[in-house]
Amino acid sequence: MSESEQDDRLVSGKKQTEEHTNVDAALRPRSLSDIYGQDSLVEQLQILLDAAKGRGEALDHILFYGPPGLGKTSLSHVMAYEMGVNIRVTAGPVIERAGDLAAILTNLRKGDILFIDEVHRLGRAVEEVLYPAMEDFALDIVIGKGPSARNIRLKLPRFTVIGATTRLALMTAPLRARFGAVYRLDFYGEEALVKIINRAAGMLDVPLDSAGATEIARRARGTPRIALRLLRRVRDYAQVRADGVITKTVADEALSLMEIDALGLDDVDRRVLETIIEKFGGGPVGLETIAAAISEEADTIMDVYEPFLLQLGFIERTPRGRTATPLAYRHLGLEPDGAAGQPRLL
Ligand SMILES: Nc1ncnc2c1ncn2[C@@H]1O[C@H](COP(=O)(O)OP(=O)(O)OP(=O)(O)O)[C@@H](O)[C@H]1O
Ligand SMILES: [Mg+2]
Repeated sequence: MSESEQDDRLVSGKKQTEEHTNVDAALRPRSLSDIYGQDSLVEQLQILLDAAKGRGEALDHILFYGPPGLGKTSLSHVMAYEMGVNIRVTAGPVIERAGDLAAILTNLRKGDILFIDEVHRLGRAVEEVLYPAMEDFALDIVIGKGPSARNIRLKLPRFTVIGATTRLALMTAPLRARFGAVYRLDFYGEEALVKIINRAAGMLDVPLDSAGATEIARRARGTPRIALRLLRRVRDYAQVRADGVITKTVADEALSLMEIDALGLDDVDRRVLETIIEKFGGGPVGLETIAAAISEEADTIMDVYEPFLLQLGFIERTPRGRTATPLAYRHLGLEPDGAAGQPRLL
């Protein structure tokens, strides 16, 4: 298998079931100037790039973390593009044995980027190999078995690991400590999402007016991947039910049909809130209990749904579980009822 075929396999191993993969790749930003929003992060990355280039060195190891769909993978590719280096793509769960990682490491060239998605899912034994590789650019291997076993240390070229994770808390402290630059991605503002939507509409040749773009942006949960997904679905609707042009009215009709409300919450978000409020008196209630009540995976709720609900200030995390805030009650058309926190229909 050639190296690039292997890369494809590694990438598709993670996401081949997801419909968005191909279009996502086509729309992926190439250079740092294609990244809209995340202004402070972009500025920091520009400094990192300029400094490394100025010194003629490889980039420091970088860790991106934050909720799904905010651009961790995209930024990693952008860094490789800006540095003019190769990027090897892999993911935590794909590297099963220490030997798999050793094979990848020995194939790297000076300056190359090794992108490890879901880096929190690396196995213990694999991490042990990664520590000296990241720190000393060395690979320790044992040759032979038993008393005659020998330890030899191979030198690796200076390369860069870029790790991405939605779960910083699940990363081991020693691994985290080996990343010299750690960046959190935040939800995007409406303005940045509008630019991302317009850029994609231009590339996909979708007619869209500015009110239409704003309507999609407003309901995209601050997330570029969702903005692009909604754009494609609204495009379908515009084509079949309207004259092909995405206006505010067309976007609104399409998104309402998809049960995406004015804030971008979907059916699952609403069921999470309703469960906390109606079944558990507003909380606190444990995540596992919420998950069981609505038949979703606890991990999915924690990674995909909860971050945005927290951002909206609709739920709070307490040591005893999640609680719904008055804002959440009002969004659902309910009135929080003083100290007891019992809902009362308006
Ligand atoms: N700042 C941005 N500007 C333009 N497009 C963006 C930006 N960030 C993300 N995108 C688009 O959103 C899509 C999702 O981004 P990406 O795959 O990089 O997210 P991610 O953080 O790696 O998500 P996950 O955690 O699920 O792997 C990409 O296809 C990309 O086109
Ligand atoms: Mg990704």
